[in-house]
Amino acid sequence: MKEKIERLKKERNAVILAHYYSRPEIQDLADYIGDSLALAQIAAGLKEPVIVMCGVNFMGETAKILCPDKTVLVPDSNAGCSLADSCPAADFEAFINAHPNHTVISYVNTSAEVKALSDVLVTSSNARKIVDSFPRDEKIIFGPDRNLGNYINSVTGREMLLWDGACHVHEEFSAEKLAALKAEHPAATVLAHPECRKPVLLLADVVGSTAALLKAATEAPDGSEFIVATESGILHEMRKLNPGKTFIPAQPADSTCACNDCAFMKLNTLEKVAECLERMSPAVEVDPAVAEKARKPIERMLSLS
Ligand code: 13P
Ligand code: SF4
Repeated sequence: MKEKIERLKKERNAVILAHYYSRPEIQDLADYIGDSLALAQIAAGLKEPVIVMCGVNFMGETAKILCPDKTVLVPDSNAGCSLADSCPAADFEAFINAHPNHTVISYVNTSAEVKALSDVLVTSSNARKIVDSFPRDEKIIFGPDRNLGNYINSVTGREMLLWDGACHVHEEFSAEKLAALKAEHPAATVLAHPECRKPVLLLADVVGSTAALLKAATEAPDGSEFIVATESGILHEMRKLNPGKTFIPAQPADSTCACNDCAFMKLNTLEKVAECLERMSPAVEVDPAVAEKARKPIERMLSLS
């Protein structure tokens, strides 16, 4: 399968991008792996005409908006995102209209339509920096992740108005189980993604994007131990880059549910990567009028990052 993908990649002059939550075999095969900010930045700078985005649809849409002349393939078009789905564009527009004179800052985990309603986008890598770039008294609507929004409010002392959305994977981590794991591993550093709920974040030593958590683990001395509260896919790169360190996944409240796996991310398989390159489908399409409006806040984010 890997040989087939390499052959097709050459034939199509394609580049494979993968998010850290992708299946390990896809991360190993990708030309680039990264967090959602890095994937957008890399996509924007590529010269090849075909991008295979092994992530979820909003990542493919962001790449397509930035590179309208390229073919962007997401190997499984059902790779949605519960957080993006928690913010339907029509409802978000009504929320914005009900709160005039607010700057709209949206997380990149949104549909192209929601991006088009926003003044600037952020990822978990740059949210604090971009929010801080606005005057202290700026009235801000932040959507759609209430957990990231609450976290940014707490570290900046702001009172941004929050959309009430969340990611079903990160919401499931249990603070009680995390406290028990910490007691069992008192030397472990707790790494948590800001999409987790506040009680989990209060127990964390490092709160950051997938890339920031990976960096914190990689910079720690050999022999260090970590408890990781984010989607399980990141453990692959953490372990690969840090063979002398121990990584323990944090637990969801229901230990039988494998809720720390994002089922959407895991839809992309090697077989589907090969198939999408063979068929040049499913290709991401964004309505040109929506894309035109959505490009501005994405580019503003990239220039502020
Ligand atoms: P980052 O890669 O920006 O940390 O985001 C995590 C995420 O939810 C991607 O789906
Ligand atoms: Fe969306 Fe959550 Fe999956 Fe990320 S982990 S793609 S936010 S559902």
